[in-house]
Amino acid sequence: MTKIATPHIPELLARHRDGYALEQAFYLSDAIFAKDVENIFMQEWQLAGHISEVPETGDYFLFDLLNESIIITRDTTGDIRAHANVCRHRGSRVCINPRGNTKRFTCPYHAWAYNLDGSLFNARQLDPAIDRSQLALKPVAVQVFHGLIFVSLADRPHSFARVKAELDPLLKPFGLARTKIAHRASYPVRANWKLLVENYNECYHCTSAHPEFARSHATHMVAERVAPFNQALASRSQAAGITPAYIDLIGSARPDGAPDIAYNRYSLFENYVTGSEDGKPLAPLLGNLTTYDSGASDVYIGILNPMLIYCDHAVIYRFIPVDKDHSLQEIIWLVKEDAVEGRDYDRARLTWLWDVTTHADKHIIEKNQQGINSRYYQPGPFVEMEAYAKRFVDSYLSTLETKEKA
Ligand code: FES
Ligand SMILES: [Fe+2]
Repeated sequence: MTKIATPHIPELLARHRDGYALEQAFYLSDAIFAKDVENIFMQEWQLAGHISEVPETGDYFLFDLLNESIIITRDTTGDIRAHANVCRHRGSRVCINPRGNTKRFTCPYHAWAYNLDGSLFNARQLDPAIDRSQLALKPVAVQVFHGLIFVSLADRPHSFARVKAELDPLLKPFGLARTKIAHRASYPVRANWKLLVENYNECYHCTSAHPEFARSHATHMVAERVAPFNQALASRSQAAGITPAYIDLIGSARPDGAPDIAYNRYSLFENYVTGSEDGKPLAPLLGNLTTYDSGASDVYIGILNPMLIYCDHAVIYRFIPVDKDHSLQEIIWLVKEDAVEGRDYDRARLTWLWDVTTHADKHIIEKNQQGINSRYYQPGPFVEMEAYAKRFVDSYLSTLETKEKA
């Protein structure tokens, strides 16, 4: 791997040319990766999973991110809890299995045991003078929104209130809380996490890289050519019970302290009711929908968790950093909770589009990283269709600048 000297961040920031891609150091430097982890991954709300993964008391799963591991569980009152998976004795991981059901979490080292609410249940031979209430598992901020479980590892998590206010009415018709995970896949990508986010945020590459996607989705076309499709969509959406709306609170438009929020329902091309290979339905209609509007909702709850909601399934993306040169692209497919595989949906058909698209993305993103590693790399200009990738870069740089000054 290409090695570079530790960059001087104020100089890098001052040198950035507006409207151009980022310099090599942003993708190759260990020091910048460490800042990304602190400034972004330890601050932002991130999707950990879905409530259908923990339907019963004592059900749990782990949300692992870099050095951190968080236990997500349903406690005896039915609430979803999140706790750091770090023993309050001498720090061992407490929960080892990635998912399961338990009455208590017992540390594998010296068997301290914790209740589902994180409180210490038992610690053999612990001096009775020591206050056990101070030795609970550390709580982690958690929010459940339309069945989606988000966690924030920040000391002072950003408010989630605006996400709820803006998106609650728009997501309602899709009944995401009454869905289940039909499939989940993780695609390792040999590239810095920012290249995954940049790639997701522009469809300039869609015509050349994604012929399968470009057949049914209009997002790769310039705005004027897309407009007639979307005008026709509005009345179809209303008839199906979906509110047409456009919200853009991302990057510099994002209100102070709130995660990036976006919502846009756009039309698929003729003869496509959903994101399928043949245009035909893939699964039972979600939530309260009565018919297909042949649209898809582009939704952002934070820049790290974009999702696409069709009438009969939803696709959620997670961008997960492994180290500065490696990332995971995780995808979660949701279908209605009572849909039965083999009868109501076929897993291969359901996952076809985003599986083939993500394989193609993995390929182009890895080639992008390889070029950036070269001594000949020089940041080039964004075009109009890359406006959202540019906004990500701008917002990333402004966060970095703010943190550097703090
Ligand atoms: S480290 Fe967990 S019981 Fe000792
Ligand atoms: Fe792509």
